[in-house]
Amino acid sequence: MSNDASDGNSRLPGFYKLSVDERRELLRHRADLNEEDLLTLERGGLDVMTADRIVENAIGVYALPLGIGLNFRVNGNDVLVPMAVEEPSVIAAASNAAKMVRAGGGFVAEADDPVMTAQIEIVDVADPEASVSRLEAAADELLALAQATLPRLTERGGGAREIEVRAHPRRVVVHVHVDCRNAMGANMVNTVAEALAARVAELAGGRSGLRILTNLCDRRCVRVKARVPVGALGTATLDGAAVREGIVAASLFAEDDPYRAATHNKGIMNGVDAVVMATGNDWRGIEAGAHAFAAVGGRYRPLAVWRAEGGDLVGELEMPMALGTVGGTLHAHAGARLALKLLGVVDASTLGMIVASAGLASNLAALRALATEGIQRGHMNLHRRSIPSGPWEGPVPPAMGSAERSSSSPTRSSPTRTVGGVR
Ligand code: MEV
Repeated sequence: MSNDASDGNSRLPGFYKLSVDERRELLRHRADLNEEDLLTLERGGLDVMTADRIVENAIGVYALPLGIGLNFRVNGNDVLVPMAVEEPSVIAAASNAAKMVRAGGGFVAEADDPVMTAQIEIVDVADPEASVSRLEAAADELLALAQATLPRLTERGGGAREIEVRAHPRRVVVHVHVDCRNAMGANMVNTVAEALAARVAELAGGRSGLRILTNLCDRRCVRVKARVPVGALGTATLDGAAVREGIVAASLFAEDDPYRAATHNKGIMNGVDAVVMATGNDWRGIEAGAHAFAAVGGRYRPLAVWRAEGGDLVGELEMPMALGTVGGTLHAHAGARLALKLLGVVDASTLGMIVASAGLASNLAALRALATEGIQRGHMNLHRRSIPSGPWEGPVPPAMGSAERSSSSPTRSSPTRTVGGVR
């Protein structure tokens, strides 16, 4: 393979053929990794002493494979995407799909301002309508109170942005929208919620109930679009137009049927969660936000949809993306810091756009496999590879993982690795 990894290109043909050490060496030059970074890769990024400071009753650390998603170009920038995931084929599939999207210019993404929302619940409200009016009239006062709890965030350009009052039959709920800049923001908005609760209850004429963020952070969404030229979609047995139609039909199935939408979205989360985990972020929050967002409107729907457009296949994904590049686990987890270094990302919005691109790539790979020869041949064969009882000498997995590989390509990393890489 080309060893010129210093040109910022995320195309690393033949990366899969290298040994783990050779891959690390390539990345060392590429991402300016030092000896400590290499040790971090070796040790998994977390030692027991640190784990003991992070959680209670620690007895060890729990490892996951960490790989690199290749071929990603997001808003014109090439990026190597660290992915932590236990499921075989996810990284190969995302890399393969990213290559198809690359043929159409790469992912085009945008992110909302990083706004998280605190919820303050007020119960036992005697006159909800009057309470809403009083709260709305006091919005400036409440915003100032919120701002006072976040002096450092304000210095960094973030802060409380808006008060929203929502009346339910049994409660009044005040939302405080806070721009958290590069933090995920859970601690900050929870602090705001607790600081404002007494005054909000007083204004509402009720009693303060729960005070906590919402994971349905729909003011912090990311949107990503991928255009795949039909010529990049074909398989050995189907031309690109037929594959495009199959993917559009699969999208429509998910749009029509929540049972299918759940699985469709699971395929998206394969890519999303892998990057979220590699970067030390709260994947439970991302999952909660994604599925709540998918169900807004009363019907669970796919987070990404695909259509034919001017002959090309075009996919669009929208989902909430509450991520941080500072604070939280990142302080403690060397592996998470290293993942950000590999990505070359400092701001949370850029990270969110890359994460969503990985999600859309995973979705594309899954639908392409499903719309052609089915998931079992490629995907499940890769599962078989991971069974430790002996080498698997089966056929080359197709669409999900490594449609482009030749089964005769030997790998240098392991004599048993007859399948699974991606260019
Ligand atoms: C498997 O991890 C994910 C898929 O089921 C997603 C899908 O069906 O779209 C293949």
